[in-house]
Amino acid sequence: MRPYDIIMKKRNGEILSREEIYHVVLEYTKGSIPDYQMSAFMMAVYFSGMNDEETTNLTMAMVESGETVDLSPIPGVKVDKHSTGGVGDTTTLILAPLVAAAGVPVAKMSGRGLGHTGGTLDKLESIPGLTVSISHEEFIEQVKRIGVAVIGQTANLAPADKKMYALRDVTATIDSIPLIAGSIMSKKIAAGTDAILLDVKSGSGAFMPTIDMARELASRMVGIGKGVGRRVAAIITDMDQPLGTMIGNALEVREAVEILKGLHPGSALREVSVTLGSHLLVMGNAAKTLPEGRKIIEKKITDGSGALKFKEMIKAQKGDPHIVDDVKLLPQAKIKVDVKAGSSGYVSNIQAQQVGLAAMVLGAGRQKKEDTIDMAVGLILKKRVGETVEKGESFAEIYANDESKIKESERLLVKSFKFSSEPPEVPPLILDTISD
Ligand code: URA
Ligand code: CA
Repeated sequence: MRPYDIIMKKRNGEILSREEIYHVVLEYTKGSIPDYQMSAFMMAVYFSGMNDEETTNLTMAMVESGETVDLSPIPGVKVDKHSTGGVGDTTTLILAPLVAAAGVPVAKMSGRGLGHTGGTLDKLESIPGLTVSISHEEFIEQVKRIGVAVIGQTANLAPADKKMYALRDVTATIDSIPLIAGSIMSKKIAAGTDAILLDVKSGSGAFMPTIDMARELASRMVGIGKGVGRRVAAIITDMDQPLGTMIGNALEVREAVEILKGLHPGSALREVSVTLGSHLLVMGNAAKTLPEGRKIIEKKITDGSGALKFKEMIKAQKGDPHIVDDVKLLPQAKIKVDVKAGSSGYVSNIQAQQVGLAAMVLGAGRQKKEDTIDMAVGLILKKRVGETVEKGESFAEIYANDESKIKESERLLVKSFKFSSEPPEVPPLILDTISD
């Protein structure tokens, strides 16, 4: 089998066999197919696409490029949830303890990646002492014992993805649906859970800017799950404005803790977390219907068992569980600045991407892989789309440690908020649900 022929076949729009796809992926991972041929192959996929069977074969070849985690020592239906990412997206820290408190084991491995704000791992690491570097054995032991663990993904899971993603990043082949679907699903399948819930974000602050693209990606990933016998469902949620009101690592942990303790009722972040949690309970056989799942999740908030479970998880991962009792024990920024409205009106738009940048320039996220994160800094948004502001009223707060970074953050934040005299249309939070 020659890579040249496989590239040409895909370039010409033909369908590749399982053997051809496996050959390209596995030989590339080993280093016997060079970057330039893999680049051409992925560009051919970008233009010619892949059908469901090819995408499933691509995914499984990526899974088989490395280790897989065997979670069978843990009883029950093990669940995982993946978000395609967005700003102020802290649902994992809320739903993982709630779902575990309802008796469904949550075994979650997260990647690190670049972002405006840190990923889930960075957020967790803002908790003093907490570690996400845990061996597979300890991971399984922890989920068996307390029902939940959120840890860093080890390098040996889907190594093909790591190599291919780095190449896609510099060859303009990131935004190909089969390549994205294979990338995400290979890591999730290798991580070994029985059920996977995908939160596909749609909107200006998301990877998928339109609902149609989000739907296509979601159904592709659900199709892969079906093809390999894993329970997979996807929810498409709005990321046209930031989901949470707090943006920045320790600030996002604070908001998650507050929601677990029953604060912020009716907030968008709480609503999406509860919806995702309800789906996970159904997928994990702990509820028959979504309304039943929702009732159970709500109860785990009001009776405090979700917050308690989060404390158990923090303690198991060597962090200070007292942050749940007192969020001031999280890293605190030295400077707080109010950002005030120049005129009265309705908030008509909040550009999530820009808000993310406003947090990143304070040090909340990484521009380059080597950058270090300032856990304490970030933003609190006091308004959502559709709400009114008075001239001179503070609509956001900047939390900074470096005086010199405030001006640029404020400029980006002001630019990200649009105001109108008429009430704007507010998009629904949950845009669609896709399951097989
Ligand atoms: N996230 C991933 O893990 N992979 C992609 O290709 C895109 C988003
Ligand atoms: Ca918008």
